Amino acid sequence: MPSADLIIYFGTVTGNAESLALRAQERAQASGLSAELVNLAEIGPDQLIREGYALFFVSTWGDGEPPMDVDTFYYDLEAADIDLSQLSYAMFGLGDSDYPEFNGFARNLDERLASFGAQALYPRAEADVFFDDTYAEWEAGIFPLLEEQLALAATA
Ligand SMILES: Cc1cc2nc3c(=O)[nH]c(=O)nc-3n(C[C@H](O)[C@H](O)[C@H](O)COP(=O)(O)O)c2cc1C
Repeated sequence: MPSADLIIYFGTVTGNAESLALRAQERAQASGLSAELVNLAEIGPDQLIREGYALFFVSTWGDGEPPMDVDTFYYDLEAADIDLSQLSYAMFGLGDSDYPEFNGFARNLDERLASFGAQALYPRAEADVFFDDTYAEWEAGIFPLLEEQLALAATA
């Protein structure tokens, strides 16, 4: 079982994704939910939670690539074979629409998680350089769903 109601994974180079992950953690706590932050640079795919609820905040670098220190996680994930059918998640991508592979990594990671059976709770966000409004809108949409689902899970 996960160690918190919600695991918030992030992958970042210059800290933007981590700053939004922290905002999501504060938002979760404001709803009485426990939320743990995990840097994807520090885990392997086998350490992803297999059941429960997760949010992913990831930026795209290079030409549609993961943040440099998330490379190993992602290439191991591509080679992995894991069952995530009990995992509900949502993906928030950060990027820059001046790049041809806008939010490429968020899109690839999202597709990879779905291919392991993970259930997307809410549509993926693909934020541009000014990501505040996109985040605020996404947060306002996803948290009521999380609150509802976690309350149902608690009474099941
Ligand atoms: C060298 C470089 C390469 C980048 N490549 C992409 C890219 O291919 N696609 C994209 O959408 N954004 C790209 N970006 C934009 C970053 O994803 C964006 O600045 C993001 O907010 C960084 O978030 P972070 O601080 O969490 O790493 C690139 C930025 C830099 C500086």
